[in-house]
Amino acid sequence: MSDDLDRIRQRIDIVDLVGQKVTLSQRGKTWKGLCPFHDDKNPSFQVNRELGRYRCWACGAQGDIFNWVMETQRLTFTEAMHELAAMAGIKLTKGAECTTPSQREAEDALMALALKFYREQLDKASRALEYCDERGLDRTLRNYWELGYAPSLGDALAQRIKKEGLSLALAQSLSLVDKDGGGSYFDRFRGRLMVAIRDERSRLVGFGGRILGDGQPKYINSAESPVFQKGRLLYGLHRAKEPMSKGEPAVLVEGYFDVVACHRAGLTTAVAPLGTSLTEDQVRLLSRWTNQVNVLLDGDEAGLKAAERAMEMLIPAGLTTQIVTLPSGDDPDTILRREGADALQARVKEGKSALEFQLWLLERRKSPESREFWQELAELIAKNADPLQSETWIEKYAPRFPGVRDAMAKRTALREMVATHRPAPAARARRREAPKAPRGRRMFTELHTAEIRILSALTEGHLVPQADTALREASLWETPMAEQFRAAYLRMAPERAPDGPLSSWIHTLDDEDFKSFLAWHADKASLLDPEAQEKEIEGAMERLRERAEARRLRDQMVEPEWDTESLRKLTERARRLKKGDEAKSETDDDLFA
Ligand code: UTP
Ligand code: MN
Repeated sequence: MSDDLDRIRQRIDIVDLVGQKVTLSQRGKTWKGLCPFHDDKNPSFQVNRELGRYRCWACGAQGDIFNWVMETQRLTFTEAMHELAAMAGIKLTKGAECTTPSQREAEDALMALALKFYREQLDKASRALEYCDERGLDRTLRNYWELGYAPSLGDALAQRIKKEGLSLALAQSLSLVDKDGGGSYFDRFRGRLMVAIRDERSRLVGFGGRILGDGQPKYINSAESPVFQKGRLLYGLHRAKEPMSKGEPAVLVEGYFDVVACHRAGLTTAVAPLGTSLTEDQVRLLSRWTNQVNVLLDGDEAGLKAAERAMEMLIPAGLTTQIVTLPSGDDPDTILRREGADALQARVKEGKSALEFQLWLLERRKSPESREFWQELAELIAKNADPLQSETWIEKYAPRFPGVRDAMAKRTALREMVATHRPAPAARARRREAPKAPRGRRMFTELHTAEIRILSALTEGHLVPQADTALREASLWETPMAEQFRAAYLRMAPERAPDGPLSSWIHTLDDEDFKSFLAWHADKASLLDPEAQEKEIEGAMERLRERAEARRLRDQMVEPEWDTESLRKLTERARRLKKGDEAKSETDDDLFA
């Protein structure tokens, strides 16, 4: 089969293939056009013939000829392979099972019919419209969010599906209808305001139905199915991904109407899980679009618990996380309606850092009279703040430290308490060995700038020997992502640098992340002349060497006590290193970890 794939790859030119759907114009090594995967105003979409790959700088879509056919025609990989084989006039060696796209088309048709039906019904349902009015959901919003209404009649949708000649059995598998004891179909959603749920690619995958007013259950959602997997969806993502890809931090809220409220307030990156707590899949989904999340959950105790849980998942995934706390009893929707859009926006801007939030929670939950309060406080500061920040927090809390009179002594006592909780250097080193490798956009923030410079040199023939030398110097590399790339490189080229252009060896790498990294950088022609580029890489190697040295020093410099003198020295050294390293990246924070 891999033979087949290679033959297909050789026969089909990606520029021709993509060119059938997108107007492309040549720019140097690449072809450019308007991205077909999002509403593109300036051409951000590029195709590289040599590498056989496309990608969009704005929305992040990328892939090879197979991905292209899968995405644009909504086919499975096997289907895409058959399609391309036919196009190339190649007979496949093994008749791989070919599932027709008809199932998917039928599903999409049914979902589209249901949506059309619900939307038509809303205009006829005065009670539902009244409810919308009460909630400030005007026509524009109803259209934008595709709100609808499922009438209370038992089988109106089922009848409609029958009339259109579509399959009721399939409709049942999509949880649009159910079957009663007598074998007749009836509507699953009745007397409810309907929210259309789309996936990241805007495919309509499910519905949420809210009762009008009070009552139980408040929502009924589509049942879990291969198409509708709650844990893998984020409501609003199809709307939010574009502003996110432009650098806006995500706003994570609790429910459908919080997403709507946030958008009304201009927070167009709002997304919500579907009533369950945040899953790993959802975190991964978010991290493909952004590296910053503002958590904006309800102001009650449940909301705070959920915020804590969310934070515990987002931070290890490398997402910078801020938590916005709302008054108890409020959610984004109530704030918007009571205080207005500006107020909601301002609250989101003033979010608390993770440590701030945890200290804030501690003050709510424990009394400063208790020993536990101070134990927990010291632990939180020790584990989450660098020495400089620690001092600030110690300063802030020391005046309340019990049992000691003198202000100076209070501070010393608290500082000592913090010191006993500080993790040992070995533990800190282990923490640097990061979790599982991430995919997509995040890999660029996971790498140090200097690492990126050297690794991307592999895309320029004349710089490969230099990059190769660097890649064989183990102590240079700092981030787990770079380690991962380095390992893949050495597996491919255990003894010496690969010959030939990138396009001749990129396929032989066994690391998908590394492949997309290289493809991503392959088109970025440098403005510098070759000699200046070589100097640049020299400089990057030098920077990494300095950082490695600083790390070694820091790990030697073991607490336990941060007496003023060593604190001053460390601070000074840290400042100097930071200044010297003008290319500020996230990994810089690691110096203090
Ligand atoms: P909320 O109860 O906070 O609802 O549940 P909400 O979205 O804020 O709705 P309004 O503003 O009161 O009308 C948050 C989310 O949990 C899921 C839904 O996804 C909802 O948006 N949920 C809640 C359910 O799936 N079923 C329920 O019965 C309740
Ligand atoms: Mn709510």
